[in-house]
Amino acid sequence: MSLRLGDTVPNFKAKTTIGEIDFYDFLGDSWGLLFSHPADYTPVCTTELGKTALLQEEFAKRNVKILAVSVDPLDKHHGWINDINETQNCNVQFPIIADDDRKVAELYDMIHPNASATATVRSVFVIDPDKKLRLTLTYPASTGRNFYEILRVVDSMQLTSKHTVSTPADWNQGEDVIIPPSLSQEDAEKKFPKGVRVVKPYLRYTPQPEPNK
Ligand code: BEZ
Repeated sequence: MSLRLGDTVPNFKAKTTIGEIDFYDFLGDSWGLLFSHPADYTPVCTTELGKTALLQEEFAKRNVKILAVSVDPLDKHHGWINDINETQNCNVQFPIIADDDRKVAELYDMIHPNASATATVRSVFVIDPDKKLRLTLTYPASTGRNFYEILRVVDSMQLTSKHTVSTPADWNQGEDVIIPPSLSQEDAEKKFPKGVRVVKPYLRYTPQPEPNK
């Protein structure tokens, strides 16, 4: 069964490049990024894992733990990581699951038989500290993902979990945010002392509240 936003994600145990892990224990109180790769030693996947490794600190700043999945065995993963580090000028520190029995791929519905009977598509799952699914993305094997977009959505989700605001199209950290139409103008002015800009009664902006307040 496919997972939907708001569902509690299923736990699993898996062999990884840093040893056996229990997914829930691995996540602890952090957010999680679980993402799949069609196969080891493939060009697009190599660039994706390299880019993720170059952004490891950005994910860590946001308290997001990274876990990659590929259906190849562990010895292949270790050799491939050497290539990723060499060619992408990075240092992969996050674990990669050796999902050779496809247990995780099936549990998270990462194999889409009409795309490929054996390889996973490029799935992304972002999970919050309550183990709830907050974002899914599904890309075809031929298209590498945009990892800045994943960071951007994490920023939005972390902000909007703390404050009663939404973020507009293409929003980035520091830009104005949207006040929900359910809030009266009077309450909006009290709640957002930095100002309320009214474009239409249902479309109102305020400067971004401090992320940690
Ligand atoms: C790649 O990573 O380059 C790739 C993997 C599977 C199918 C197509 C491309």
